[in-house]
Amino acid sequence: MPTLLDVAAPAKLNLFLHVTGRRSDGYHLLQSLFTFIDWQDTLHFDCRADGVISREDLQPSNALPADDLIVRAARRLQAATGCPLGVHIGLHKTIPMQAGLGGGSSDAASTLIALNRLWKLGLSRAQLSELGLSLGADVPFFIGGRSAWVEGVGDAITPLDVPPTTYLVVKPPAGLSTPEIFSHPSLKRDTARVTITGFVARAAQEARWTGSNDLQPVAEMLCADVRWGIAELAKRGLDGRMTGSGSAMFAPCTHDTPTNGWPDGWLARVCNNFNVHPLFGWC
Ligand code: C5P
Repeated sequence: MPTLLDVAAPAKLNLFLHVTGRRSDGYHLLQSLFTFIDWQDTLHFDCRADGVISREDLQPSNALPADDLIVRAARRLQAATGCPLGVHIGLHKTIPMQAGLGGGSSDAASTLIALNRLWKLGLSRAQLSELGLSLGADVPFFIGGRSAWVEGVGDAITPLDVPPTTYLVVKPPAGLSTPEIFSHPSLKRDTARVTITGFVARAAQEARWTGSNDLQPVAEMLCADVRWGIAELAKRGLDGRMTGSGSAMFAPCTHDTPTNGWPDGWLARVCNNFNVHPLFGWC
């Protein structure tokens, strides 16, 4: 039976994130700039002839839910295509959960891309993205495979290269729930839309590709760790902000920026961004 080993699922940063409206179904309209960073999960896929989808946690201490997004992605692809094959998936997870780093969505995207290849299904990138959107708003970005300007509910994607940048990424012990942030009454939902050309012109002129995250004020209300982390980054002379719905934060920095001195339970890591997903050529 064929296998695919060491399949990468990189994390993402939202360099800015604006909430520009809300649809009648409750989903929010966003504008955001996404880029990949070199912090990744790794997946292994062993084809099964019996049609069963199974998943093994290669670090059992993570205690992932049995019905996580990877298993749901595989089942959804199987159902959509009528594929009789199954798969055993090994997951080596290093991206923290409830961080806004897109780990779960990235795992699901890499699963769809890898199984499309392993099961020889021949689905296009657009077809995989449509399936991905039904699993989570960030999944189509990972399937798109390029740093991107993302609008709508995560489905309107325009590739946009971001200059190579080094970031200090910190994740406090506390996580944040995406639905809780989006449903909070204090969330600002009417930020004026900006254009890509306007944003790029300003970013190039100021050499600053970051902007504000509208989810951060609510996250700071709900999570003392986020308040403290942003203040601590500022104390270190760094311009920090939250990624996605948190609780991880990041700040542009130099490659020799120290990662020590954070309290017990915090993760701190110097990462570099990149513009093309490792599996870009697979679909
Ligand atoms: O799609 P994802 O699973 O990341 O979204 C989790 C929840 O966050 C959704 O169920 C929804 O409540 C909220 N959300 C939203 N608008 C978005 C993305 C997510 O309201 N664009």
